[in-house]
Amino acid sequence: MNKAMGFLRHSFHQLLLFSLISFSCVSGTQFSIPRLGALRRTTRTEPKITSTSVSKDFKTFFYSQTLDHFNYRPESYTTFPQRYVVNSKYWSGANSSAPILVFFGAEEALDNDLSGIGFLTDNAPRFKALLVYIEHRFYGKSIPFGSREAALRNASIRGYFTSAQAIADYAAILLHIKKAFSSKNSPVIVIGGSYGGMLAAWFRLKYPHVALGALASSAPILYFDDLAPQVGYYAIVTKDFKETSEGCYETIRESWDEIDKVASKSNGLSILSMKFKTCKKLKRTFDLKDYLDSIYSEAAQYDHPPTYPLSIVCGGIDGAPKGTDILGRIFAGVVAYMGNKSCYDMNEYNHPTDETYMGWRWQTCSEMVMPIGHGNNDSMFPPAPFNLNKFIRKCKSLFGVQPQPHWVTTYYGGHDLKLILHRFASNIIFSNGLRDPYSSGGVLENISGSVVAVYTINGSHCLDILPEKKSDPQWLVKQRKTEVQIIEGWLAKYYTDLLEFRDRT
Ligand SMILES: *[C@@H]1O[C@H](CO)[C@@H](O)[C@H](O)[C@H]1NC(C)=O
Ligand SMILES: *[C@@H]1O[C@H](CO)[C@@H](O)[C@H](O)[C@H]1NC(C)=O
Ligand SMILES: *[C@@H]1O[C@H](CO)[C@@H](O)[C@H](O)[C@H]1NC(C)=O
Ligand SMILES: *[C@@H]1O[C@H](CO)[C@@H](O)[C@H](O)[C@H]1NC(C)=O
Ligand SMILES: *[C@@H]1O[C@H](CO)[C@@H](O)[C@H](O)[C@H]1NC(C)=O
Ligand SMILES: *[C@@H]1O[C@H](CO)[C@@H](O)[C@H](O)[C@H]1NC(C)=O
Repeated sequence: MNKAMGFLRHSFHQLLLFSLISFSCVSGTQFSIPRLGALRRTTRTEPKITSTSVSKDFKTFFYSQTLDHFNYRPESYTTFPQRYVVNSKYWSGANSSAPILVFFGAEEALDNDLSGIGFLTDNAPRFKALLVYIEHRFYGKSIPFGSREAALRNASIRGYFTSAQAIADYAAILLHIKKAFSSKNSPVIVIGGSYGGMLAAWFRLKYPHVALGALASSAPILYFDDLAPQVGYYAIVTKDFKETSEGCYETIRESWDEIDKVASKSNGLSILSMKFKTCKKLKRTFDLKDYLDSIYSEAAQYDHPPTYPLSIVCGGIDGAPKGTDILGRIFAGVVAYMGNKSCYDMNEYNHPTDETYMGWRWQTCSEMVMPIGHGNNDSMFPPAPFNLNKFIRKCKSLFGVQPQPHWVTTYYGGHDLKLILHRFASNIIFSNGLRDPYSSGGVLENISGSVVAVYTINGSHCLDILPEKKSDPQWLVKQRKTEVQIIEGWLAKYYTDLLEFRDRT
C-alpha cells in the first residue's frame, strides 16, 4: 500500500521477463510470477502513509558488513556498508532487559518500511522496545562494490546475493547492536513480511541464540519444490474475484478469448491498443494479458481494508454503462484501479531498471524458485502451467548459472514441516490472511504450542504488520492482539529463564 514496494509480488516479476524473452513467439501464454512484498507497489487507489511525525526518531547507521560469511578466502573479507535504522524513543533500556523488535528488510530499499510497517511502532510503547530495521544486502543503500547495476552484472559478486548470506548479515548486525547498547539480556523478536517473513522464520530456526522469536507475516515458506499446489496462487485470486462479484469473475474469464478474437483481425493490435489506451502500440497480446494478470493478482493480494482494491476493479467492470462490451468493461476496471490516465503503460509491473525487479529476478533465478502456474479450468485465467525446465533454461541464458529449485528445502526444510518442527522449533508465529493468494504456500496449522498459525479468513497480504487504523475491522484488531499476546508469553517465559539461569552462572 505504500509507494513502490513489493517484496513479494516481485518474484513474480521475474517470470515476466522470461516471458518477454521466451514466449513471445509461442501462442500459449505464460504470465509473470506475481510479486511478493509487504507493501503494494502501485498506489493509485490508496493514500500514501505519511510518517513525518515518526521519522525524526529514526537514526540511520551503516555497518561494515562482511561480503562472504561462509568462506575464508581473501576476497571473503571484503566489506560493504549495510544500512540499518534504530529508534530508541520507547526503549526502557538495557537495565530492564527490554526487548528489541527487529524488522528484516526484504527485496527493496528500507526507506518505505519505516512508515509502511506498523507493527513495530504501534507496539513499541507497550513493549518499551528498541526498534531496529535492517536493509537486505543488494537493495537500497546496502550494495557491495558501489553501484547496484555493476554488482548485479558481475557474476562473481552476484554469487554473494543469497538468503543465507542475508540472514548471516542480520545476525552480525544484531550482535553488534546488542553490544553497542550493552543489552546482552534483551530478547530479540524478528519480524518480516512476505519474503522478509520467510527470512524471519528461517532466522529463528538458524539463529536461536540471536532471536527469541519470529513473527513471519504472509511468508509462503511452502511454495517451494512440490510442497504447495502450483495452481494455489491463482486459484485464490480466482476465488477472491468470484466471491466479490460473480459477474466480474465471468467477465474476466471470458475476456482472454475476446482479446484473442480482436487480435486476430487484420488491424487487431491497433484496435486493442486504442481500446486499452496503451502508451505504446501493442506488439503482441501477451503484454496486455500480462498487465491485466498483474492488476488482478495485485488487487487480490493487497485487498486491504478499508479501500479493498479488488472491489474497486470489480466496481469498474460491473459498473460500466449497460451495453458496454466485454473489453470495454475490462478497461473500465483498469481505469477504476489505476486511475484515469492519458495512457496505460503495459510495463507498469515490469520496469527493467526497478531495483526490486532486478534483484528479485536474480534471487528467483538462483534459489527462490517458486513454481506458480495457472491451472487448467479451475481459474479465471487461461491455462499456463509452471514449466520448470523452461524456467531453468531462461535463467541459465540470463545469468549463466543453473537455478537450484531444491536448495530452499535442503537448507531450511519444508517437507514434513509439522513432523520436523513439532519438537525442534519454538516461538514462531506464521500469520496469514486467507484472501492472500500467497497464503496457499503459507503455514496454516499449529505445529506446536509455540509454533503457531494465526490467520484471518478475510485478511490479505501482510495486513497484520501494516499500521493500525481507526477503520480496521474487528477481525484484524483481534489478529494483531493475538500476536502481541503470544509474543508477551514468549517474553514472560524468557525473563523467568533469565532469572533462573543467570543466577546459576
Ligand atoms: C544500569 O545498571 C548499571 C549497573 O548496575 C548502573 O551502573 C547504571 O547506572 C544503570 N543505568 C541506568 C540507566 O539505570
Ligand atoms: C567482478 O568483480 C570482481 C571483484 O571486484 C573483479 O575483480 C572483477 O574484475 C569483476 N569482473 C568484471 C567482469 O567486471
Ligand atoms: C478521464 O479524463 C479525461 C480527460 O481528462 C476526461 O475527458 C474523462 O471524462 C475522464 N473519464 C472519467 C471516467 O473520469
Ligand atoms: C475441467 O474440469 C472438469 C471437471 O471439473 C473436467 O471434467 C474437465 O476435464 C476439465 N477440463 C480441462 C480442459 O481440464
Ligand atoms: C494456533 O494457536 C494460537 C494460539 O493458541 C491460536 O490463537 C490460533 O487460533 C491457533 N491456530 C489454528 C489454526 O488453530
Ligand atoms: C468475510 O467477508 C465476507 C464478505 O464480506 C463476509 O460475508 C464474512 O462474514 C466475512 N467473514 C469473517 C470471518 O469476517
